[in-house]
Amino acid sequence: MKNFCVFGNPIEHSISPKLHNSAFKAFRIEANYTKVLLENADELKKTFLKLNLSGANITVPHKEAAFEICDEIFDIAGKIEAVNTIVQKNGKLFGFNTDAPGFLKAIKEFGKIKSALILGAGGTAKAIAFILHENNINTEILNRSKERIEFFKKKGIAAFSWNDYEPKQYDLIVNTTSAGLKDESLPAPKELLDRLLKTAKFGFDVIYTKETPFLQLCKENLLTCKDGADMLLYQAVLAFNLFFDNKYDEEKIAEAMKKSLLN
Ligand SMILES: NC(=O)c1ccc[n+]([C@@H]2O[C@H](COP(=O)([O-])OP(=O)(O)OC[C@H]3O[C@@H](n4cnc5c(N)ncnc54)[C@H](OP(=O)(O)O)[C@@H]3O)[C@@H](O)[C@H]2O)c1
Repeated sequence: MKNFCVFGNPIEHSISPKLHNSAFKAFRIEANYTKVLLENADELKKTFLKLNLSGANITVPHKEAAFEICDEIFDIAGKIEAVNTIVQKNGKLFGFNTDAPGFLKAIKEFGKIKSALILGAGGTAKAIAFILHENNINTEILNRSKERIEFFKKKGIAAFSWNDYEPKQYDLIVNTTSAGLKDESLPAPKELLDRLLKTAKFGFDVIYTKETPFLQLCKENLLTCKDGADMLLYQAVLAFNLFFDNKYDEEKIAEAMKKSLLN
């Protein structure tokens, strides 16, 4: 029996066990996936080894700590210095980030995108900005405050705070802030969003538990829109496949995981 889990704080809300256990069942894999509340990031490696895990997912606020404990880092995880998937092989920990490619799969149905503006500059903004940049999409960051934008500037991605920004035209606008998650606030001043959304084509919000005021405003401006549900699903699909050497068909994993959401 192989053991897997998701680490986070808080963790109660996580649907990752539901998604992964459903896929284990569909492929008749003898494995179990649980959720683990981790309060102290310094305990991540010790806990991972103590639980004898074959792999794990890591969610807020431990993705940077997960990056630190891995023996080897792959793909975009190195650029954004955040790991959401760890695979253990022969005692070695291999780190990946599937939030970024998960987002890319989620926006595939939008078709060709040449430019994007990302609202927010936290961990999710990093994942999305770097994968878009790597895919030759002209990407800029707009954040409420100045502190977090330096990381992007240093890595060659244009980044602005509300105070030093002049609106431009973008194909895609993405909300990666938690504005609207537990309240009815917008991720940027309304007048600014009104100007941006008038000329944009696509709107995406990483929040998946409700229709946020940002998505409502995108709809009022007749943009084609999506919430974060598919991003969440695809990051899990890609993580599952990394746990098993990419030997399963992604569409079949997605199908099994989607079924679990209907129960
Ligand atoms: N769908 C998915 O699969 C998926 C995956 C990952 C994360 N998420 C969601 O993404 C969201 C962000 O996560 P994160 O880890 O990136 O967060 P984070 O690292 O804490 O970053 C939060 C960012 O949002 C900004 N912000 C927060 N509240 C704001 C407000 N009221 N108005 C304007 N800006 C605000 C912050 O600006 P300052 O710098 O000015 O403080 C910061 O740039 C969460 O809701 C999480 O659940 C979804």
